[in-house]
Amino acid sequence: MDKNRIIVFDTTLRDGEQSPGCSMNTEEKIKIALQLEKLGVDVIEAGFAAASPGDFDAVSRIAERVSNSSICSLSRAIDNDIKQSGLAVQKAAKHRIHTFIATSPIHMKYKLKMSEEEVIKRAVHAVEYARTFVDDVEFSLEDAGRSEIPFMKEVMDAVIAAGASTINLPDTVGYRLPHELGAMVKELSDFAGDRAIISVHNHNDLGLATANTLDAVMNGARQIEVTINGLGERAGNSALEEAVMAIKTRRDAFGDLYTGINTAEIYPTSRLVATITGVEPQQNKAIVGKNAFSHESGIHQDGVLKHQETYEIMKPEDVGVFKDSTLILGKHSGRAAFRDKIEHLGFDKVTDEELNAAFERFKILADKKKDVSDDDIRMLITDEALNQDK
Ligand code: KIV
Ligand code: ZN
Repeated sequence: MDKNRIIVFDTTLRDGEQSPGCSMNTEEKIKIALQLEKLGVDVIEAGFAAASPGDFDAVSRIAERVSNSSICSLSRAIDNDIKQSGLAVQKAAKHRIHTFIATSPIHMKYKLKMSEEEVIKRAVHAVEYARTFVDDVEFSLEDAGRSEIPFMKEVMDAVIAAGASTINLPDTVGYRLPHELGAMVKELSDFAGDRAIISVHNHNDLGLATANTLDAVMNGARQIEVTINGLGERAGNSALEEAVMAIKTRRDAFGDLYTGINTAEIYPTSRLVATITGVEPQQNKAIVGKNAFSHESGIHQDGVLKHQETYEIMKPEDVGVFKDSTLILGKHSGRAAFRDKIEHLGFDKVTDEELNAAFERFKILADKKKDVSDDDIRMLITDEALNQDK
């Protein structure tokens, strides 16, 4: 295992789907999973298999379709949840079970009504049972952000001995400040040593999710749990695009640390998720918001024209944003304009067969719609790739 590589664990299809108004059907989840694979995500948390028959179906169909990313399903520390996850991910080329139980005093007392000893016993059993289905088991200490370090060490010792290879420390309610989260990660990653990979999962209740993720990476975390556009419970999760681009752009601060993300796929992935969920990122959202690369003031426009780096710390193309995408397609547009447009949108590996089929469907759509948007075209191409793949 390369110690400088940061494992990117995407939970758009699980925590992201828990955002109000973001539920997706199985076909939509498959489209997003295939795009996450293209983006270079290491682990895709495809859902919570035991939550419903629909969730089970989505996780197992994603497991059959994706080969480069590991497919993971979430489970409470309950046998039936773990069994459903194990069955749902079994056909994946690479698979993982993620199981969790809360370790904070407030959760143990009021939610679980369990003693520390009972929590440890349940956690150990969950990991051992998960290991009967897969080799790769992740264990989360839910509400780690408000848990006590000595107890977390006891839990970690026990679940690592039971076979967990990734220990996730979720700041479930987005409570920690970056320097506090960094200190917690430092102490617990030193404690784990080579026995497990330390992961972080930060919520954005105080707007600190990505700052916390980055501080954790600087202090030893080697897996980050993130979502596209920062979707997730309540105020959301740390956004993949923000954490990945901070690590890439600030190499001076992160040294040799890197992710395997193909950053040119960030914007297309963001658009696909926004189109499918109907939830647009706020206009001034870092990296993927409509205004992220536009300059309004005369002074800024003048500066950028003289030298792009005067007011831009990243190149828009590096995240797949092409500013001069001005070609508007409609029913009179021809195949050449269509090809030009899709190449411009970053689909440069589309076969002639896929192009022709997508073009036919574009013509049908253009008959119904005056202007066909870039997002419509992305959906056409993604649908086509999905059909050809079947
Ligand atoms: O926020 C959280 O604690 C979670 C866990 C289930 C990982 O989503
Ligand atoms: Zn969460």
